[in-house]
Amino acid sequence: MNILLGVSGGIAAYKAADLVRRLRERDCAVRVVMTAAATAFVSPLTFQALSGHPVRTALLDPAAEAGMDHIELARWADRVLLAPATADLIARLAAGLADDLPTTLVLATAAPLYLAPAMNQQMWRHPATQENLERLRGRGVQVLGPGVGSQACGDHGPGRMLEPAELVAALLAADPGLDSGPLTGVRTLVTAGPTREPLDPVRYLGNRSSGRMGYAVATALAELGARVTLVSGPTALPSPAGVARVDVETAGEMHAAVLARVDAVDLFVAAAAVADYRPAAPAPQKIKKADAELVVRLVRNPDILAEVAARPSPPFTVGFAAETDRLEDHALAKLRTKRLRMIAANWVGATEGGFERSDNALTVLWPDGRRELPMMPKTQLARELALLIAERYVASS
Ligand code: CTP
Repeated sequence: MNILLGVSGGIAAYKAADLVRRLRERDCAVRVVMTAAATAFVSPLTFQALSGHPVRTALLDPAAEAGMDHIELARWADRVLLAPATADLIARLAAGLADDLPTTLVLATAAPLYLAPAMNQQMWRHPATQENLERLRGRGVQVLGPGVGSQACGDHGPGRMLEPAELVAALLAADPGLDSGPLTGVRTLVTAGPTREPLDPVRYLGNRSSGRMGYAVATALAELGARVTLVSGPTALPSPAGVARVDVETAGEMHAAVLARVDAVDLFVAAAAVADYRPAAPAPQKIKKADAELVVRLVRNPDILAEVAARPSPPFTVGFAAETDRLEDHALAKLRTKRLRMIAANWVGATEGGFERSDNALTVLWPDGRRELPMMPKTQLARELALLIAERYVASS
């Protein structure tokens, strides 16, 4: 695959050098163009040595245009990645400007465009930046990241460029013809949605899970090349493309559907909101309102996630934790007691995120690391989570 990499002027430019090396390792041909500001951070010679091709920094360069001119370069690319993409570059792209080589190439190419933003957290949060990104997303541009964490300027927050390994995974994903996603061929089982525990033939105990997050994760894992089976409780969602779906209703049915398949999978992601208890004896007939009070006895359901992780040779097992208090303590306890490889924790019952919302944020923990994924649409959040799962899965196998 031919990758055209545009580097703009931010401190994260140094990570773009590693990115080129990793793309070459994955058999990609890479051509690099830089803004003038980027050359203040990394020398074009670095990229020339790593890509094996001269690096272009100017639009109006007679010598360079005599070789592969900028229109040829734009046609040559299968993917265009701008990494790092500064706030200024994003603004110029949103406005459709063509005042330097990277922006001109973006207008001149028909290839999919990916941005890896990198900037100070305040600049990232500024409405001007967010509006520009919305316009670009509306044109089909894929925005990868940014990550959250400590920044070169001393601040802490969103704005760090994603790691080169994550960018490579995102860039090479979603192209079934190429068969080169980081999870290609990885047999994966995902649970999603709520369960319904019958009280009588017409009533059930349920919960507020919409299934959106689990479906989005199943989709994102499939885009990374995984062969995904989705065991789903009742939802109003269409089946994700390229994913095999098994419908269940109760926790018992979900348990049976998972156990029937788990020995043949490499990766298990439990995103379902499984009822912990079910009515001990569902009434065979509709319960009549005969008495002033009704007492229903509940019994425990099996913990599907814990059972999978406790198998003799378990798949790489990822759990979710939905919490209303002490998010990290509870999530860490679940990671350890259930012996999971990763856990994705989110607040529920807060004003933002959680059930029945289109946005969410996650704190992802694993035995020797963690990552914060900030508030964003669930589809994008799922892509970032899937990349992180892929990164940890690949690192462990
Ligand atoms: N889970 C499961 N089977 C259950 C209950 C939960 O597979 N019977 C999975 C969920 O899909 C999720 C994780 O366990 O990945 C955490 O669920 P949660 O309800 O947050 O935690 P519990 O372990 O049930 O603990 P508690 O309800 O006490 O917080």
